[in-house]
Amino acid sequence: MSNIIKVKQYLLNNYSTTKPVNLNYDTPEATFKYNELEYDLSDANLLKPGEILVETIHLSNDPAQKGWFSSSKDSYLPPSPLGEPAPARGIGKVLKSNSEKFKEGDFVEAQLGWTTHALVGADQTLTFPLDVSKVSKLSQFLSVFGLTTLTAYVAAYKYSELTPKDTDKVFLVSGAAGAVGSVLVQILAKDFKPKKVLAIAGGADKVKFVESLGPNVIGIDYKSSTYEEDFAKALGDDKIDVFFDQVAGEILDHASQYLKTFGKIVQIGAISSYNDPTKSNFENYATHVLLKRLRIQGFIVIDDFKDLDKIITHLEELFQNGTLDKTKFYETVVDATGDNFVKIPELWTGLFTGVNKGKFITKVAKGYD
Ligand SMILES: NC(=O)c1ccc[n+]([C@@H]2O[C@H](COP(=O)([O-])OP(=O)(O)OC[C@H]3O[C@@H](n4cnc5c(N)ncnc54)[C@H](OP(=O)(O)O)[C@@H]3O)[C@@H](O)[C@H]2O)c1
Repeated sequence: MSNIIKVKQYLLNNYSTTKPVNLNYDTPEATFKYNELEYDLSDANLLKPGEILVETIHLSNDPAQKGWFSSSKDSYLPPSPLGEPAPARGIGKVLKSNSEKFKEGDFVEAQLGWTTHALVGADQTLTFPLDVSKVSKLSQFLSVFGLTTLTAYVAAYKYSELTPKDTDKVFLVSGAAGAVGSVLVQILAKDFKPKKVLAIAGGADKVKFVESLGPNVIGIDYKSSTYEEDFAKALGDDKIDVFFDQVAGEILDHASQYLKTFGKIVQIGAISSYNDPTKSNFENYATHVLLKRLRIQGFIVIDDFKDLDKIITHLEELFQNGTLDKTKFYETVVDATGDNFVKIPELWTGLFTGVNKGKFITKVAKGYD
């Protein structure tokens, strides 16, 4: 067998701006650049001490990557160097190891980047070994056991300041059919015994999906021409205790008037503005924050890694007692195996047009689920 591995990658060519990524590869302004290279497995210097060579199996598509593709100094991660694979989380198989933590054949989740093979530091904070006995298919490490589940968890159990004893509340979740949203709706509907969960999603199919996630969930289609009437009807005479917002923009501006006085907004994301910051120019929001004395809590889930053991123990209980149901962890998997690797950037942009229900994953290697 040849010791030469052919590697395909998309490198970060220009930092992204506040506009959509530029996929016009014929221009020097393109955000990414396709690249091929070879790794020689027999080269003793291929791996630095502590490094592993990983074959990428699945890539995670995350709205946060739009920020990771930029050079913003305000980001919670340092800017990725230009000329390196575009940053992305992923799972893969260790082909060669120069670390005591991993051996050949182990599975790993890490910042792999848009590349078929990645050289990764085994000691990096975001590099985790994977126990494949826990899953029925590998992609579940990005969906059921992914960072999006952790994000939903801390939004519900920590940043909302609620406890499951706080029953009969009214919750609003935007981006409800996505990876974080669909887990959050399950947790809120089943563990907090709310009066209702209003779940905002795009299109009739996604509305049906979010309503299937638990009791007392009312889906609202924000793409419908009757959105504001539908919202008012679903809410009735109630007011919202906690709004878990992932979208910002018009959805936040509109909904802020329906919160209770001293209500809370947990700001998980702001996806509507990632390609156009003018979408976060508000008309009414600040006035409602003021008049209703709203409390707003933003967070970034990596701050909670210190509590990971405790969180995982509780999540396991939630799976066992049926609060979380693995069969309701929907995955939308798109194919970038073989020659389809070149489609990776274009597939990724589907995050902003709502192609996914549940966790959006790109499959890179054949032969794995
Ligand atoms: N704070 C943290 O630590 C943390 C961690 C992970 C994720 N996040 C944030 O949480 C949000 C969701 O992440 P995710 O991984 O769950 O992504 P996701 O699976 O892509 O879900 C996001 C959903 O938002 C909807 N959406 C996209 N553009 C929209 C727009 N302009 N207006 C309204 N809805 C829109 C899409 O569904 P529709 O078809 O319904 O439009 C999409 O499925 C993102 O804002 C992300 O940045 C934050």
